Amino acid sequence: MSSIKVSIAGLGTVGQGLLSLLVEDRRFTRQGIDFDIAGVSARNRSTKREPSIESYRWFDDPVELATDPETDIFVELIGGADGMAKAAVIAALEAGKPVVTANKALIAEHGPQLARLAEEKGVALKFEAAVAGGTPVVRGIRDGVAACTVKAVSGILNGTCNYILSTMAKDGRAFDDVLLEAQKLGYAEADPTFDVDGIDAAHKLVILACLAFDAAIPMSAVSCEGIRGITEGDVAAAKKLNMAIKLLAEAVLKDGKVALRVTPALVPEAHSFAKAMGSENVIIVDAEPLGRLGFNGPGAGAGATASAVAADLCDIARGSIGPVYAAKANLLGKLDYMSVDEIENPYFFRVLLKDEPGALAAVAEALAAQHISIESLRQPPSRKKGASVTIVTHPCRASAAKAVKQALAAHPFVEEAPSILPIVTP
Ligand SMILES: NC(=O)c1ccc[n+]([C@@H]2O[C@H](COP(=O)([O-])OP(=O)(O)OC[C@H]3O[C@@H](n4cnc5c(N)ncnc54)[C@H](OP(=O)(O)O)[C@@H]3O)[C@@H](O)[C@H]2O)c1
Repeated sequence: MSSIKVSIAGLGTVGQGLLSLLVEDRRFTRQGIDFDIAGVSARNRSTKREPSIESYRWFDDPVELATDPETDIFVELIGGADGMAKAAVIAALEAGKPVVTANKALIAEHGPQLARLAEEKGVALKFEAAVAGGTPVVRGIRDGVAACTVKAVSGILNGTCNYILSTMAKDGRAFDDVLLEAQKLGYAEADPTFDVDGIDAAHKLVILACLAFDAAIPMSAVSCEGIRGITEGDVAAAKKLNMAIKLLAEAVLKDGKVALRVTPALVPEAHSFAKAMGSENVIIVDAEPLGRLGFNGPGAGAGATASAVAADLCDIARGSIGPVYAAKANLLGKLDYMSVDEIENPYFFRVLLKDEPGALAAVAEALAAQHISIESLRQPPSRKKGASVTIVTHPCRASAAKAVKQALAAHPFVEEAPSILPIVTP
């Protein structure tokens, strides 16, 4: 069998993981697929890599590698929405070379435009590893539910937030303290913005939503709130309710409109979302007439992510070209968007009140003013001055919950701005 020559730009965690997979005697050789390395590129040639890259052709410029005549398939593992990653992917597609990438930022920001180029040129553009690492959710939505109407896609998509929130719950520690430790242990980047502010989860959500709703969805359509505002008090109060706080990403279709949000939320401990620890990702797709479909698995790591990249390479080797999304790129439409304020959930309120008569009544009044009814109210004994009250409401619109938060934040009986979080019901 003649070999397929793969070029790899980016030799970090995933690039080295992919090299290891491709040079070992793997299952794809039994499937009659033989990969060879046409060339490699990274920033610094002298960095020691595992496996060694000494025997491979080296390119300082990923664009040159992408368009090299020896390249049959170009793999982009550099990262970043723009810059060299984008330039090299465009160059490869322009030159008629199929592309595989793990780059969620690039696909979330420019996926539909790149898909149009790939389809014009009649070549594949695949990005299974860009969402949930080794878990085949891109295929699952693109191919598995191709005949269904997707009503919602929701998931736990960021391992750094999983680590921080579960450590806060386990050890009763503050966000800043756990973040610092996560950075020291290498679980969080030196600049944690993308992870803890929800941008990484929003990138993945946009990719899944484009696949699910056959639309070109801009990042600006996602309402994005991260976990910096979560306190150890919130986490402890959630735990007392047998719930965990998680960073939830969800896209919901209602009355022909889609709302997309990334938000911290409470999840019952028995729910699969609450069980996602560390780098594990969990995604639930709700589709007609299929019902609910779950995916869970490793969302990061060299071996897991490289296996998704290699699976895309196998697909291309077997002759799969596309389409890139479930719909052809020129059929990806515009969606009607619904404000996330219209999403209904039960809500968790935690509010620190002055220890004065009438304080609790003021909270009840603020909720009643927004027609929100209370399901349960707890006021555990507190060693602090004042009373920490936890309320779970019946379902209400996000806009009503926000209005209560605003009213309470300004109320003379309230010591601190209250925490409000939606509760995900199974
Ligand atoms: N890590 C994961 O678990 C994971 C999971 C899912 C998806 N992804 C995605 O996979 C991609 C790669 O992630 P990673 O974790 O492997 O990143 P990484 O460890 O930071 O590696 C990035 C690689 O790109 C090279 N590079 C950076 N700028 C370059 C430039 N201008 N020209 C040529 N090469 C350049 C670096 O070269 P040097 O080594 O010489 O510095 C390095 O080899 C990203 O898009 C990421 O979002 C990663």
